[in-house]
Amino acid sequence: MTLASEKGQRLFLTGATGFIGAYVLRAAIAAGHDVDALTRSKSNAGVLASERVKVITGDLSAKDARWRETMRKADAVIHLAQPQTFGRRVTKERARQYCLRRLEMDRALFEAIDPAKTRRIVYVAGTSYYGDCGPEICNETAVPHPRGWGPYLAPAIESLPEYVARGLPIVAAFPGWVYGPGSWFAQYVLEPLREGRPVYGLRGPARYTSPIHVEDCARAILHLTDSGEIGSRYFIVDDAPVPGERLAEIAAKALGVTGRGRKLPFVLLQLLSGHVIADSVAYENRLSNHRLKATGFSFAFPSCEQGVPNAVQQWLINQLDRDR
Ligand SMILES: NC(=O)c1ccc[n+]([C@@H]2O[C@H](COP(=O)([O-])OP(=O)(O)OC[C@H]3O[C@@H](n4cnc5c(N)ncnc54)[C@H](OP(=O)(O)O)[C@@H]3O)[C@@H](O)[C@H]2O)c1
Repeated sequence: MTLASEKGQRLFLTGATGFIGAYVLRAAIAAGHDVDALTRSKSNAGVLASERVKVITGDLSAKDARWRETMRKADAVIHLAQPQTFGRRVTKERARQYCLRRLEMDRALFEAIDPAKTRRIVYVAGTSYYGDCGPEICNETAVPHPRGWGPYLAPAIESLPEYVARGLPIVAAFPGWVYGPGSWFAQYVLEPLREGRPVYGLRGPARYTSPIHVEDCARAILHLTDSGEIGSRYFIVDDAPVPGERLAEIAAKALGVTGRGRKLPFVLLQLLSGHVIADSVAYENRLSNHRLKATGFSFAFPSCEQGVPNAVQQWLINQLDRDR
């Protein structure tokens, strides 16, 4: 059987212009794949430029779906596209809209796939679906208690077994807190630290979370197009759960700033960032990467102590490039 991680295979990538997608694209090119990369906007197409990438302009939510024809030729599909999440306060209403739109996008994608041609679909979900796991380290068989974005991801995740039963070769990836030089880590941690603003957290005991460097996350997603078992779930987290605020402490040190953490009661944090983001830092989530490692995957950054300084360095370089 020819698998997508073999050189010269054709990957169809949704969310290619997004935070994780940009790294998946880079990893796929480095591994010698040809990639059809989906974006809704011609102006985003520039960031995808590479001789191994064919840009497909299209919208998963739209009736006009020229992308379908290309996707049906893919050996593997990596599905990262999601409605916009960060950038504004995330109220429950905004999250409900996210949930509905995500389901619509997933349905359009799954209905268009040809299981006779496509050997793996790596569906990227999130560990907020598992949510509150308590103080024990959990694996993928744990009973989910969705928190933060989790309740709004749940309908999409819980519809996957039905698609698998219909013959779609879906492997579900669950990244933890994905840190890197963008997305929430830049917005809530790196920018405030650099500008001398407080990094907000939640008052009360330290709550552990399971982080992952965006480069390892991207490589793991790509790895699952080959090594993931159809119908299985994989946590994409590093070796060492840490208290959530640890990421900001390491980042402050790497930036050479003192850093002002400001712990707020839940109601105030909710006023500032919306219910969903406040709830994202309000629970314990210590997850095992045993199943992922058993597939042969190894981490470049096994802990955030190793990964965060690298993410900070990449972010500083990006800032310099932008200012030039
Ligand atoms: N970021 C994290 O920390 C994190 C953690 C755990 C799990 N995840 C999961 O990982 C996945 C990717 O997250 P991300 O943060 O990398 O995403 P992101 O930066 O928010 O990017 C979203 C992507 O979706 C595309 N998109 C949005 N609507 C679309 C539509 N209607 N049709 C086609 N494409 C559309 C956008 O492309 P264009 O704008 O170019 O069209 C963009 O590339 C998501 O499923 C998320 O739940 C993320």
